[in-house]
Amino acid sequence: MSYRHIPVMREQAIQYLDCAPGKRVVDCTLGGAGHAKGIVEKILPDGLLIGIDQDADAVEHAQQVLAPYARNIRLIHDNFVNLPHILLRLEIDAVDAILVDLGLSWDQIEFSGRGFSFRKAEPLDMRMNPQASQSAAAIVNTAGTDRLARIFKDLGEERWAGRIARKIGERRRTEAIETTGQLADVVRSAIPRKDAAKRKIDPATKVFMALRIAVNRELEVLDTFLDEAVAHLAPGGRICVISFHSLEDRMVKQRFNRFARGCECPSGFPVCTCGKQPELKVLTRKVCKPSEAEISDNPMSRSARLRAAEKLP
Ligand SMILES: C[S@@+](CC[C@H](N)C(=O)[O-])C[C@H]1O[C@@H](n2cnc3c(N)ncnc32)[C@H](O)[C@@H]1O
Repeated sequence: MSYRHIPVMREQAIQYLDCAPGKRVVDCTLGGAGHAKGIVEKILPDGLLIGIDQDADAVEHAQQVLAPYARNIRLIHDNFVNLPHILLRLEIDAVDAILVDLGLSWDQIEFSGRGFSFRKAEPLDMRMNPQASQSAAAIVNTAGTDRLARIFKDLGEERWAGRIARKIGERRRTEAIETTGQLADVVRSAIPRKDAAKRKIDPATKVFMALRIAVNRELEVLDTFLDEAVAHLAPGGRICVISFHSLEDRMVKQRFNRFARGCECPSGFPVCTCGKQPELKVLTRKVCKPSEAEISDNPMSRSARLRAAEKLP
């Protein structure tokens, strides 16, 4: 397959971030640096782009793409959950905009060799940062079948989660499951033929996605990060999150709404006793989706959902 790096919903994201000369913006997920390049061009001549990625290859790639803007960028290899420490090290209290474009980059799927796709014969790793956490193979070969079933059901909404977990349990008694091909075979063998034939996607799709989310602790990280991000936005600052999974999108929607509401007292309370004030104004009352034209140009964008909010003064 040819190399095609196309940043998802780039124009909408940059518009919501309200990028302008002199602003300080964090791109938490550099990936192929498509959003980052668009942002940095808007904040010249004296703005600052702080770019983060937990994949060292993405940071190295961004360094090349953004080399002409060296004066205006700081690129950091880290997990965005560490945003408070990153800003502390840069002696920055608050920023004007924060972008998060979740999930995997094209490079990771196509070229990383880390087993993100069942279409490629690769070791079953799935870590965005190979120095962190357990690999997918470690989880598949050591987790109890109950835990595996929960991962496939909760994170992949896989109907046959229990059967797949039991098949994995049986298979690993005779051999360790170390490659994408081995895992995809076990999953396919666990799903009843009739059901597999009805699916529009490969039977292994949901299990691979669920496992990747578990390996990289993607939901836990997003949950912690959202509070920290809002705390580090300057008044009037913007946050924009692009997600590709319904659980992530729901988390972003609910958190933005909670910050916009302020008060967390139970609904029956006659007066507020918690004293919490609204901190955000939600800018995307209805979630933003990619246009048909974008989807036909870049099918990977199909499930993208963008939400944005502004920090109140
Ligand atoms: C969809 S890509 C981003 C694409 C990018 N916006 C562009 O224009 O090319 C997601 C990137 O976010 C990174 N990433 C995902 N979760 C992360 C996290 N918790 N901390 C840091 N980087 C993360 C991945 O390694 C990947 O490179």
